[in-house]
Amino acid sequence: MLQAPLAGVTDRIFRGLVRRWAGDTLLFTDMVPASRLEDDRSHRKLAGLGDEPGPVGVQLFDHRPEAMAEAARRAEALGAAAIDINMGCPVPKVARRGGGSALLRDPELAARIVAAVAAAVTVPVSVKARLGWCETSADPVGLALRLQNAGARRLTLHGRTRRQGYAGRADWAAIGAVKRAVAIPVIANGDISTADDARRCLALSGADGVMVGRATLGAPWTVGRLQAQLAGRPDPGEPPPQARLLLARDHLELLLQAHGPHGLLIARRHLGWALAGLPGGAPLRAALMQTGEANLALALLTRAAAEADGAPQGSTDGQPWRTSSSEK
Ligand SMILES: Cc1cc2nc3c(=O)[nH]c(=O)nc-3n(C[C@H](O)[C@H](O)[C@H](O)COP(=O)(O)O)c2cc1C
Repeated sequence: MLQAPLAGVTDRIFRGLVRRWAGDTLLFTDMVPASRLEDDRSHRKLAGLGDEPGPVGVQLFDHRPEAMAEAARRAEALGAAAIDINMGCPVPKVARRGGGSALLRDPELAARIVAAVAAAVTVPVSVKARLGWCETSADPVGLALRLQNAGARRLTLHGRTRRQGYAGRADWAAIGAVKRAVAIPVIANGDISTADDARRCLALSGADGVMVGRATLGAPWTVGRLQAQLAGRPDPGEPPPQARLLLARDHLELLLQAHGPHGLLIARRHLGWALAGLPGGAPLRAALMQTGEANLALALLTRAAAEADGAPQGSTDGQPWRTSSSEK
């Protein structure tokens, strides 16, 4: 059970929240352009990578094998525990230049990139891809075999083509065909939100694991919770409203510590997701989106938490949403 890389979401701070439930599981940065690492500027997404309490893989994208190899070398030197190559991103800014999902149309170049990166680093190299560019041209088995032969040690497949975007349902059976054809581990991805989804996907695809993306937005406990459920450990459950509000407050406070006043702007999208579906969440969300005052935003969340259901009875030890900052 893996946390999917999510651009603008899975930064160091979000990864820290995920680890409150998922411990020292392997997590990933969101995608980093190789060009940012090429010119020796240490990319801010990689700052402190080696100091995180569990392993972090760095996801890279570009269409130039040598640039990718050099970026991978630098990422490894900065503490990356694994390198993941993005071959799924449909964003035109990325794909137009031949990176991300554009590599699905050029399996030969995709394989050269994997070979160059695998030769450049000692940590494992994986690929995260979609089934293909479009329904008529997709050949996920052919692509997977090439990537495996080039040195990929694991393949994560989102069960949609690039053209599909997020339409329709992820095709877990198509991931199964890939799994049966290759020897490397295959991770299935797409439309998994619950332990039931994960079980059905694993049964249909025979995959070695699953990766969860959108279900973790505003819900960093999801991966740890699903890991526990799939392993037959007690389900920690969804945190009650008060705990979710304290967690949102923590998230905002950590972003402010890391980014100064700009942290409030970064926090808005996270807070929007975090408050969705909470009783009284809509007016609170509106107030948080309007204020430019970090202290007011923190106070609004503190007050909402104090008034919310789920106030802990007795000891709060061992509750992952309680941290030093939320205890202040
Ligand atoms: C906001 C957002 C950002 C994403 N950023 C990345 C990324 O940086 N790298 C990547 O490989 N995939 C990225 N994805 C794709 C997801 O990792 C995942 O493959 C996709 O959302 C399907 O899984 P899901 O149905 O569990 O969300 C992103 C998806 C979303 C919604």
